Amino acid sequence: MNILVTGGAGFIGSHTCVELLQNGYEVIILDNYYNSSPDAVKAIEKITGKSVKTYETDMLDKDGVEQVFAENNIDAVIHFAGLKAVGESVQKPMFYYHTNLEGTINIIEAMERHQVKKFVFSSSATVYGMNNPSPYVEGMPLSATNPYGWTKLMIEQMLCDACVAHPDWHVALLRYFNPIGAHASGLIGEKPNGIPNNLMPYITMVAAGKLDHLNIFGGDYDTPDGTGVRDYIHVCDLAVGHIKALDKLDQIQGARAFNLGTGVGYSVLDIVHAFEKANNLKIPYEITDRRPGDLPSYFADTTRAYQELGFKTQHSLEDMCRSSWNFVKHLYQQ
Ligand code: UFG
Repeated sequence: MNILVTGGAGFIGSHTCVELLQNGYEVIILDNYYNSSPDAVKAIEKITGKSVKTYETDMLDKDGVEQVFAENNIDAVIHFAGLKAVGESVQKPMFYYHTNLEGTINIIEAMERHQVKKFVFSSSATVYGMNNPSPYVEGMPLSATNPYGWTKLMIEQMLCDACVAHPDWHVALLRYFNPIGAHASGLIGEKPNGIPNNLMPYITMVAAGKLDHLNIFGGDYDTPDGTGVRDYIHVCDLAVGHIKALDKLDQIQGARAFNLGTGVGYSVLDIVHAFEKANNLKIPYEITDRRPGDLPSYFADTTRAYQELGFKTQHSLEDMCRSSWNFVKHLYQQ
């Protein structure tokens, strides 16, 4: 089976490409390397010993997208490409709407032209908005609080509508919780880009001595230790979730949402302490003000992904912390 992976050189995309190749799928990557690099493709090839056909193409380039579909007999698309920084999306909303929505429309229209009927979408737990209690269940009402979140929600809606128009399409909407960790080889992972916004890239930069301490955003939440609680999932588990979804796509009628999380919430302090223990390092931190827009606590209900996809996470928090540092440590040794 030939799988087109948009954004295949990115953090989650690259781990999913490895998993696909190791499960006998052929992979075609479309990536403009906006937030990634061809090195990730080389690393995917090194890990798997297989070669990957790659197009340096922007999904906003309609002709370029058409060329990828015309030159390959694509059976399914896994769509990761898109902008993902929450804060930046508030500053540049049109950039986010234009890129994420228009890019996805170009992919969907190419699928229509080439009769590709299977699609796996990289969605986010952010579509549960601010008002649902945890654990989040797929059938809960959805909303968004920033342009990035709205693009995820709007794309989910676009795909539901596409499935009404095309009753023979099979679409999985995978709602990720907080992916961290890296491949055991240390060759692919999340590259800190400037000053990171997300917790684990920030911690690894502190560990590397590039930043002097971690700011913990809020110590007075109504959580066991006062710091924010999230459902952290190892990126290699997340990658497996995509294979499980692909394998079951035939049985999915229309568009169906699945949470990909562990179902367990950890606080920021839990992560800091687990990271220190796993890597025998100290992470200096300060508790500062809450970050606007952050929720105190949320985590996934994993029942549907388990029952319908047979998806169950395997990696521990210790694994997530050790592999995250293993990847970043390699970067600074080069
Ligand atoms: N945090 C800190 N200090 C930091 C960074 C984060 O204390 O320097 C805390 C946050 O306040 C939060 C937790 O660490 O409690 C996790 O924060 P992240 O920024 O790593 O992740 P978020 O849960 O805020 O965001 C994630 C994804 C987004 C997605 C969002 C909502 O990164 O893409 O979940 O689902 F939109």
